[in-house]
Amino acid sequence: MDRILIKGGNTLSGSVRINGAKNSALKLMAAALLTDEPLILTNMPDLADSRFMAHLLNHLGVETERRDDRAMVLHGKTLATPFAPYDLVRKMRATFNVLGPLIARHGHARVSLPGGCAIGARPVDLHLKALQAMGAQIELEEGYAVAKAPKGLHGALINFPFISVGATEHAMLAAVLADGDTVLENAAREPEITDLADCLNAMGASVSGAGGATITIRGVGSLHGHTHRVVPDRIEAGTYALAVAAAGGDVRIENCAPEHLGALWDRMRAIGVTVEPQDAQCVRIVQNNGRCAAVDMETQAYPGFPTDLQAQFMAVMCCADGASIIRETIFENRFMHAPELVRLGADIMVHGREAVVRGVPVLHGAPVMATDLRASVSLVIAGLIAQGNTEVSRIYHLDRGFEGLEQKLSALGADIKRVSG
Ligand code: EPZ
Repeated sequence: MDRILIKGGNTLSGSVRINGAKNSALKLMAAALLTDEPLILTNMPDLADSRFMAHLLNHLGVETERRDDRAMVLHGKTLATPFAPYDLVRKMRATFNVLGPLIARHGHARVSLPGGCAIGARPVDLHLKALQAMGAQIELEEGYAVAKAPKGLHGALINFPFISVGATEHAMLAAVLADGDTVLENAAREPEITDLADCLNAMGASVSGAGGATITIRGVGSLHGHTHRVVPDRIEAGTYALAVAAAGGDVRIENCAPEHLGALWDRMRAIGVTVEPQDAQCVRIVQNNGRCAAVDMETQAYPGFPTDLQAQFMAVMCCADGASIIRETIFENRFMHAPELVRLGADIMVHGREAVVRGVPVLHGAPVMATDLRASVSLVIAGLIAQGNTEVSRIYHLDRGFEGLEQKLSALGADIKRVSG
């Protein structure tokens, strides 16, 4: 199994280019099920997760072709089956979002439930309730959601009891071809939601209000093909910004959307890092003041601090000057990186959804193990500042969401490499 070896101590300088957002790309790919014309996604990241989603779509009858210009062509001219088996769903929750489009296109579907994952139980009850409100009859049978909508899906008023990115996206994907108007209240406001709405609208849908708490979708008879550029990955951009905060240096983060990271910039400025947006696609991060200050942080739905950057922020706090309280409000079990950071010499106490991180002057390299995607990159950031050698194993987690991580960090001056076996 591949591992990443890091020799800590180098500062970072230069520029790094950010890819399209994984978490947007996966839902945009599901939109290909809604039309018999080609959907072309440009600025597509090439990741284990996007390849996995492509496999599922291929099984469902969507042809996919990865082009050299970082585009993917998806063509669901005739769909093969409304059946999404366990093996093609279990590894990645975003695959469950095919259920709504399959019901819309076939009138019925059978999709494996995704199951829990390392960061929490992550049920799909809100997804199912939204589809049921739109007229789908859904039974849970032997680990599958078996759904039918003999009269088609219809518009509905759906008031989410709490914010869910996936359920908001799923309801949008199902509602665009439903009969009548659907109103989503307490909808997620993430940039990936707006990206999906923009793409669906350009395919002929009528979605308004995305980016706000209420989204209205007027059902249309059919959607057509379109070429859509995937929104930049704010989590990848934020990860490189936090790597600079930890290791020190001066880096331009390009092809990103600095406006999507306001809550991160607020915390980074509070710890003493210079954040200079250069234009709508580029931000410069400078940290040459020695140790960062420690500040508290709490994850929240957008526009709050993203849970997907919590682990990376914790890595920075490990060597900050003072103590920081980090509160995770989105997932119940998202501190698995803490014991691994402790192996590098960090002082972290976890109490339920809160972690107290007392900054130490130095971390020391050690073998550590990745447990999930964002946790693994936090170990890489810690490795950049640790004295000596850090070896991160189980890096298949990293490959799910960070394309070319070691090449990009090494181009910025880090001593990092991947080894096989
Ligand atoms: C998306 O997950 C992202 N994944 C996650 O990124 C991200 O952390 C999360 O949104 C929050 O921003 C993708 O987009 C593929 P939720 P999602 O529904 O949609 C609970 C990464 O590392 N909930 O907003 O699954 C849920 O358990 C990943 O890239 C229910 O109880 O997140 C959680 O506690 C990790 N019932 C909370 O809501 C439901 O039906 C928010 O989850 C749905 C969710």
